[in-house]
Amino acid sequence: MKINDNFLKIESSYLFSTVAKKQREYQQAHPEADVIRLSIGDVTRPLAPAVIEAMHKAVDEMAQEDTFRGYPPEYGYDFILEAIQKNDYADRGIDISKDEIFLSDGAKSDCGNIGDIFSVDNKIAVCDPVYPVYVDTNIMAGRSGDKDENGAWKNFIYMPCTAENNFMPDLPKEKADVIYLCFPNNPTGMCATKEQLKKWVDYALQNDALILFDSAYEAFIVEDDVPHSIYEIEGAKKCAIEFRSFSKTAGFTGMRCGYTVVPKDCVFEGHSLNPMWARRQATKFNGVSYITQRAAEAIYTPEGKKQIKEILSYYQKNAKVIYDGLREAGFTCYGAVNSPYVWLKVPDGMTSWEFFDLLLEKCQVVGTPGSGFGPSGEGYFRLTAFGNNQRTVEAVERIKKYFK
Ligand code: MLT
Repeated sequence: MKINDNFLKIESSYLFSTVAKKQREYQQAHPEADVIRLSIGDVTRPLAPAVIEAMHKAVDEMAQEDTFRGYPPEYGYDFILEAIQKNDYADRGIDISKDEIFLSDGAKSDCGNIGDIFSVDNKIAVCDPVYPVYVDTNIMAGRSGDKDENGAWKNFIYMPCTAENNFMPDLPKEKADVIYLCFPNNPTGMCATKEQLKKWVDYALQNDALILFDSAYEAFIVEDDVPHSIYEIEGAKKCAIEFRSFSKTAGFTGMRCGYTVVPKDCVFEGHSLNPMWARRQATKFNGVSYITQRAAEAIYTPEGKKQIKEILSYYQKNAKVIYDGLREAGFTCYGAVNSPYVWLKVPDGMTSWEFFDLLLEKCQVVGTPGSGFGPSGEGYFRLTAFGNNQRTVEAVERIKKYFK
């Protein structure tokens, strides 16, 4: 038997596992240290009461023979697909049909799994820095080639996002086949306007390219000119797949639920991607549990919407605390407005990992080093707003005290 030797190319540990390991090691060596974690974008607020109520009801149904349910439909029950279609698309004037929506266990899995339906020969374009899943899954699939002397994968097109271009990628100079975009962006927290996104849709249409649009942080958008869906841009249904997640929207990181939109008009080499993804999911995925689907449905009720807004504003307040506090401490900061992430420049002369160590040792605060998101992330650092409010304030006070 031969192994998939693409796995030998890749870093042995996933970025967030490395960060967690370093935190554990520090805590073991300093049991008395009161470490505050602002690293992985994991939620901390409990689920909304409307969600809990819906789950209790669904559990009771599962306890009775006449309301018990076995395998769920592969792509989601009608009740949740209809709620998504109405609230996330029709109400925004976007025409997406129910059978273009595929419920799943989250955007991370789908962003990785989507590669099953396109050829290993495609040229992949990624922002740099970038959510590591897009890069790692394409290395695993054999699309990366080898690393060059700067540590970049030879077959990938990197689109640097730095302070110089206000963290907005430029269109690639060589032809890209598949382009990963994430807005609001992870890790920089920056957003594309409609006009900026249109440039990408036009590029994809002109170049027969597919956009994989990760919209996991859509719920954090507060500014009017920031699109909530790529399908707000004319022509996007012909060239874009959109990934959505309930993780950050409704605190579902531990529940596991999201969805992917694959429009029927997305046609390449004469084939619509929609039935291909349907076939892939029916074969390799067995659907989301009934209880979780009822929980997700509750997010779209009037009470659910209200409660979720309150939870989001709790995190938005944290984002402001971090952004304002770090600026007061003398850091240059980005993001935080339409996003739960604050992206900051580390002090001159330090690498992102050196700053990680310093912050952990001197302030007992854990963040994520920018270089873990790609070569252009070197010199930057990410903090998340998903922590407890008091603890976030405390972390910022510690940073201010040390650096001011
Ligand atoms: C992050 O910290 O970037 C996210 O939590 C990762 C994810 O959503 O998988």
